[in-house]
Amino acid sequence: MENRRNIIMDGDPGIDDAVALALAAAHPEAFKLLAFTTVTGNQTIEKVTENARRLVEFYGLDIPVAKGSVIPILRKIETASDIHGSNGMGNVVIPEAVRPLASDNAVLFLYEMIRDLPEGEKVTLVPTGPLTNIALLFRVFPEVKERVEEIVLMGGAAFGGNVTSTGEFNIYEDPEAAAIVFESGLPIVMCGLDATNLCGIDRETAGRLAGEKGSICKAVGEMVQFYLNGPAYSDKPYASIHDAVTYMYLLHPEIFQTRKMPVSVDCSEGMNRGMTVCDTRKWSYQEEPTTTVLLDADSEKFQEYLVDAVYELDRRLAK
Ligand code: BDR
Ligand code: CA
Repeated sequence: MENRRNIIMDGDPGIDDAVALALAAAHPEAFKLLAFTTVTGNQTIEKVTENARRLVEFYGLDIPVAKGSVIPILRKIETASDIHGSNGMGNVVIPEAVRPLASDNAVLFLYEMIRDLPEGEKVTLVPTGPLTNIALLFRVFPEVKERVEEIVLMGGAAFGGNVTSTGEFNIYEDPEAAAIVFESGLPIVMCGLDATNLCGIDRETAGRLAGEKGSICKAVGEMVQFYLNGPAYSDKPYASIHDAVTYMYLLHPEIFQTRKMPVSVDCSEGMNRGMTVCDTRKWSYQEEPTTTVLLDADSEKFQEYLVDAVYELDRRLAK
């Protein structure tokens, strides 16, 4: 009996996307990773796709990588090289990949992969970047929704933002795509800033990892150090590893506090562009909301479990 979840990760690596993938790769007993699809976000599609190809092999994963959306549905590209570096991974260099790109059309690739799942099986989508590919998938091939068990995404916030005072990067980048996904009717877990801001790796631990001989520990440590030396975390004791909260929630839901709420996305061009508006008024809706919003997290447990996973992956691949 297969107890593992089928997972497709869709992301824009990205330092925290890279660490998230390490967490997933460290847990083959829980996750059956089927593919990685890329999306423009933290860096251009060329750079994040190259990073994804390298990361997959670096972590010992034998899965296809497909290149996704080049630009958001309506908005202009705004990358985050100040946070993630010019190569998107804190300028840490991962060895070149051997396996060629599986497809340069992630939407078609996703459709075919989901359609061809063994009968009766479903997939959990884990988006850790803007939701452009997933929205296009649902628009072009709406029938795939029947084979999607759940979407566990990093994005949004019940309170606050990071690009603007109310906009979180992944949603702000492509609000129209996010609106399509939140309106899909599928079960969604929104790992937003309320929880992800609390989930990170501290300076001492990043330094320890960076000083290790193992190549994965070292790369993760150096990437997190890049975050910590950059503009977002220079005055903070730890760097948030936002995207890893998706897999951590699937592995350890007990370390998070959650609440089901209807979530809608502000698609205006005004000051609240990309805001995920979470309706806390229980009396305002009759049907149970389909979105579970993460509201709080146990920071210590998060770091402990994440760092253990990075060491474990390194140990396993060194054998
Ligand atoms: C999100 O934006 C990106 O910079 C990170 O990779 C993460 O997905 C955090 O707001
Ligand atoms: Ca990301």
